[in-house]
Amino acid sequence: MIGAQWGDEGKGKITDLLSRSAHVVVRYQGGVNAGHTVVVKGQTFKLHLIPSGILYPDTECVIGNGTVIDPKALIVELDTLAELGISAENLFISSSAHVTMPYHRMIDQAAEERRGNKKIGTTKRGIGPTYADKSERTGIRIIDLMETEVLKEQIEWTVQYKNVVLENLYDLPPLDAKAVIEEYMGYADRLRSHVVDSSLLINQAVRQRKNILFEGAQGTLLDLDHGTYPYVTSSNPVAGGACIGSGVGPTMIDRVIGVAKAYTTRVGEGPFPTELCDGLGDQLCALGAEFGTTTGRQRRCGWFDAVIGRYAVRINGIDCVAITKLDVLDEMEEIQVCVAYEIDGEKHHELPSSARQFARCQPIYKTMPGWKQSTSHCKSLDDLPQEALNYLKFLAELMEVPIAIVSLGASRDQTIIVEDPIHGPKRALLYENGITPQVA
Ligand code: GDP
Ligand code: IMO
Ligand code: MG
Repeated sequence: MIGAQWGDEGKGKITDLLSRSAHVVVRYQGGVNAGHTVVVKGQTFKLHLIPSGILYPDTECVIGNGTVIDPKALIVELDTLAELGISAENLFISSSAHVTMPYHRMIDQAAEERRGNKKIGTTKRGIGPTYADKSERTGIRIIDLMETEVLKEQIEWTVQYKNVVLENLYDLPPLDAKAVIEEYMGYADRLRSHVVDSSLLINQAVRQRKNILFEGAQGTLLDLDHGTYPYVTSSNPVAGGACIGSGVGPTMIDRVIGVAKAYTTRVGEGPFPTELCDGLGDQLCALGAEFGTTTGRQRRCGWFDAVIGRYAVRINGIDCVAITKLDVLDEMEEIQVCVAYEIDGEKHHELPSSARQFARCQPIYKTMPGWKQSTSHCKSLDDLPQEALNYLKFLAELMEVPIAIVSLGASRDQTIIVEDPIHGPKRALLYENGITPQVA
């Protein structure tokens, strides 16, 4: 299950729904930059690194090798869940995941300041610098924390190395290696019982024919390779990332479910063709409560962009989608959908790979009438006003993908299951039979 836009599509809610039929839920990339709000029976849970499946007592939850783990933040999350009565007994952490260190957070913050008007608008959680060290092969992994001598040696060496960067490049005070070692030895003790070879655990579950849900964080357009570079995160949220970030072969993945909001939001910097910089954008923000779960920042809001939707279907091989937050459009007189872009009078149906070109894209809109009534109580497609149904059909046609789930509110019961998202037909098979998928 992946995000089809710029993150915050409501993946937490949909993961929670799908987790009902999952034995194992796996996070395969990202770190505590993610923020998922899940509402269950009026109680609100905010998750960052722990898979949303944790709310089901018998579901095994795995933080995979492709994630980056800030142990300090993870322990806060564990403590918060414990206070709410949620057990973490079934939480497993990959021994190969990389660890966010204090210098990663410091560098993320300092680098953003240094970039000035070229800043990315990161969550300042040290995500980029942790992944950079992984690629540079100077990273510290969870397994290193587990072996005290290795931990001491690794931290001693990296702190010495990073202090040169902190002091000389960013004018920051150096870190005391001994204090960092003490701090991380404490974290290691706290997390030890959760650490496993997660690829082995997941593949054993595959052999036992268990249902495994891979939960993407962020979204397709924040993907390091396929997103709106450089305004992206440093991991691969796309479906292909699930294999790399969990140690499972591509032949084992049965289906890909995309999650998209009925409109679009984005946090941080970077081009956003359908952004509404007027009162309407503020209205969407207020109605959708569009404030970040992690940083509290106001999310930028705009109309649904079908060029992006189609792109996400292509990049991820999406079989079906969940459309969330349809209820947020309830009061709109008219609703616009971006069907293509225009640059210098020329029409474009695909996302340009040049960031400069993307920034120049003007949306070409199709205007749809609003339904001007509440939908949050609707239990089936038949309950929806005709205009809302037409809107959904139009989105499905534009994306060429069936809509399996429609979400009309934050709670579990404010959901219409249009078709079984897990056992419905595979999109590739529809193509084989020459059928263009439509709304179910
Ligand atoms: P995620 O990062 O993709 O998991 O999404 P977030 O949790 O950051 O943001 C989605 C927000 O919308 C959360 O506060 C959810 O509780 C809320 N939400 C999810 N689905 C719906 C919906 O269908 N309608 C409304 N009104 N809110 C929703
Ligand atoms: P969930 O999982 C929305 C954005 C940041 C910034 C860019 C890079 O809740 O959908 P980073 O800290 O990752 O280096 O920041 O990515 N970003 C998100 N935006 N939802 C998220 O996660 C995000 N995680 C990172 O705002 O623009
Ligand atoms: Mg979020």
